[in-house]
Amino acid sequence: MNTEDLRINGKRLQQTLEEMAKIGATPGGGVQRLTLTDEDQAARDLFVKWLKEIDLDVTIDEMGNIFGRRAGTDNDLPPVMSGSHIDSQPKGGRFDGILGVMGPLEVLRTLHENNIETKRPIVIVDWTNEEGSRFAPAMVSSGVWAGALERDWAYDRTDINAKRFEDELIRIGYKGDVPAKKWPLHAYYEYHIEQGPMLEREGKRIGAPKGILCLHWYDIYLEGEANQVGPTPMEGRHDALCAAAEMILTVNRLPDDMGGNMVATVGEIQNYPNSRNIIPDKVHFTVDIRSWDDDHAIKAWERLRQDFEAIAQNRGCPIRIEETWRVEHSPFDEKLVQRVLNVAEELSYPGLYMVSGAGHDASYMNQIAPTAMIFVPSIGGRSHVEVENTTWEDCEAGGNVLLHCLLQSANES
Ligand code: HGY
Ligand code: MN
Ligand code: MN
Repeated sequence: MNTEDLRINGKRLQQTLEEMAKIGATPGGGVQRLTLTDEDQAARDLFVKWLKEIDLDVTIDEMGNIFGRRAGTDNDLPPVMSGSHIDSQPKGGRFDGILGVMGPLEVLRTLHENNIETKRPIVIVDWTNEEGSRFAPAMVSSGVWAGALERDWAYDRTDINAKRFEDELIRIGYKGDVPAKKWPLHAYYEYHIEQGPMLEREGKRIGAPKGILCLHWYDIYLEGEANQVGPTPMEGRHDALCAAAEMILTVNRLPDDMGGNMVATVGEIQNYPNSRNIIPDKVHFTVDIRSWDDDHAIKAWERLRQDFEAIAQNRGCPIRIEETWRVEHSPFDEKLVQRVLNVAEELSYPGLYMVSGAGHDASYMNQIAPTAMIFVPSIGGRSHVEVENTTWEDCEAGGNVLLHCLLQSANES
């Protein structure tokens, strides 16, 4: 069958996204589907049901990654894969991750109902814990599958309530027995919202990132001295929260100090005992540094660490630093990136060659197979917030680009 004029069913894609948005829906119009929670489990169950409805061969591996495989005419050939994540941020949006799982699902539904065969098998995947919000770091399960992270190290990661990753995986019934170990792939495409302002600003509909920035995550622990706020004089205090406050401002100044081309953020903080009339004696906060240039990011961290140690010394608050996670910047496969732009042009969608500031499972897939991503605009450039939004027309457009990129790759010898 000539598939040139084939298109996905945009209405059906919208319905699957609306169905998924009901799971963990928040009053502000977003979703809370933290990884390995009951909401994640419910969304996984629905996803598996939909995979089985189109006769895909479903497997769940020991990291809870869910794979749905559609046979090709030559099943000895390495498959083409597409996927993303079902888990969300605490007050996340209705498109981040899930669009990259419902998109390939819609593509496979379209191929199924039109009885279209491809030479290579096509595999759809939901990667466990892409967000890294409940269990740090992010992209941990695609990282284990790609061989970049150790399974047992990931299993021992704990959340803020000291719950273990593996125990929660077992609790929701998604600790599969298939080893989370890579197998040969012909190509990997990840469909995702941009999560930034570029496409909207440039008036483009499809983004083709040349790659993803490096992501470096650190955890900082400060020890102070608790005391009653009233009788304790200001001089001589060891106030862990004041030390943290000084450090947080140095993080905010860091990109400027380093001459730009990077971002640096403190997104998470815990303050103990967090009582208004006790001087804080324990603080934990996180640092996230990103840049296209890994060495630049590492030099920035070296500078920041020295600043932190000087502040800790000056305030008499001993500091402990954990270098929690680093994934280097990912330059995608230029041939596949060009394919995304060419297909967008053939479908008359204006395309933009760009960079991804957000991390994705594609970072790890890029280490083992030719990889590219397909972006669609985020309205107002907003993401990781309840107001995250993308038009249904853009969702459909991205789905059509994914359809034809997958078809082209799946029919390559
Ligand atoms: O951190 C990120 O960019 C992604 O949301 N995990
Ligand atoms: Mn995402
Ligand atoms: Mn995200």
